[in-house]
Amino acid sequence: MSSLHGQRLVIFGCGYVGTAVARAALAAGARVEALTRNQEKAAALRALGLAKVVVAELSSADWHGQIAGEPDFVDNCVSAGGGPDGYRQSYVAGLQSILTWAGAGAAPVGTLVYTSSTSVYPQGEGMVVDESAPADGGTPNGRTIRESEILLQNAPATAVRRHFILRLAGIYGPDRHHLLDQLRTGADTLGGSGAHHLNLAHREDIVSAILACLQAAPTVANDIFNVADQAPARREEVVRWLAARLGRALPAFDGGTTARRGGQPMPDRVISSAKIQRVLGWQPQFCDFRAGFDRILSQG
Ligand SMILES: NC(=O)c1ccc[n+]([C@@H]2O[C@H](COP(=O)([O-])OP(=O)(O)OC[C@H]3O[C@@H](n4cnc5c(N)ncnc54)[C@H](OP(=O)(O)O)[C@@H]3O)[C@@H](O)[C@H]2O)c1
Repeated sequence: MSSLHGQRLVIFGCGYVGTAVARAALAAGARVEALTRNQEKAAALRALGLAKVVVAELSSADWHGQIAGEPDFVDNCVSAGGGPDGYRQSYVAGLQSILTWAGAGAAPVGTLVYTSSTSVYPQGEGMVVDESAPADGGTPNGRTIRESEILLQNAPATAVRRHFILRLAGIYGPDRHHLLDQLRTGADTLGGSGAHHLNLAHREDIVSAILACLQAAPTVANDIFNVADQAPARREEVVRWLAARLGRALPAFDGGTTARRGGQPMPDRVISSAKIQRVLGWQPQFCDFRAGFDRILSQG
């Protein structure tokens, strides 16, 4: 990774991905600041060496005077729980709040990266989905996230010099591996269909994709990239491999609706990340589920 020495990064939503981005940016020499809602998380982030941590609700203006404007970089990594209102508050009102803050600075944010989701895509039936596919939202939550993307796409140049939208596939990595947990606890039946493809992105590869955006050549700007590994496999293939690695009996699929962890239906498709590989030269370290789960299992 090249140096971010002397550059300032503000991270909004320092959870699973945001904290990993903070660690990587600190290691690259950046001055890192963050906003979180959570006092405990704030203390942990300060202990990591962040220069400033503000505890506030993103959608409010309470924090606007506490984080200086005109940073070189912003990474918006907030996620949401709590149903449609929570989604609207964190994704739409949260992004609007960032843009209002950014627009009040004497100069715009240099590069803003927004971690969106492949849930903006409605496509199923095994289709290969790249960034040219319609993204009008397969679910109400997906539509809300798309609305927040549009806000960013329409941001004035006085607020954001350039932006990148990263549509992330299912995040996994250390301490986040739902399927592996199900097998470890001896589940004999799994919900949904084994024929569905599982589109995964390892946390370390998401971090490297975010850093690739921050460090992209000035000629690259205002684009959307899918972030997924290079070989989405069917769930039955992943489960068979995991069961063999763990020495467990192979669970059956109940054949019901395949759902995301939050319960929303998960369409069957293959998310292509060819564009970010081509445009930014990003290459996932964990090119398929085997590489990612191998690392997780080897770490215990
Ligand atoms: N999980 C997936 O598989 C998946 C798939 C595709 C895309 N994504 C996207 O990837 C990004 C990173 O996900 P993640 O797994 O790192 O999420 P995460 O671990 O849940 O972290 C998100 C952070 O955002 C904070 N946050 C949420 N709403 C906020 C608000 N209104 N004001 C201030 N802080 C707020 C949360 O704070 P609290 O701790 O206080 O709640 C949390 O620290 C998100 O944008 C998510 O939508 C996730």
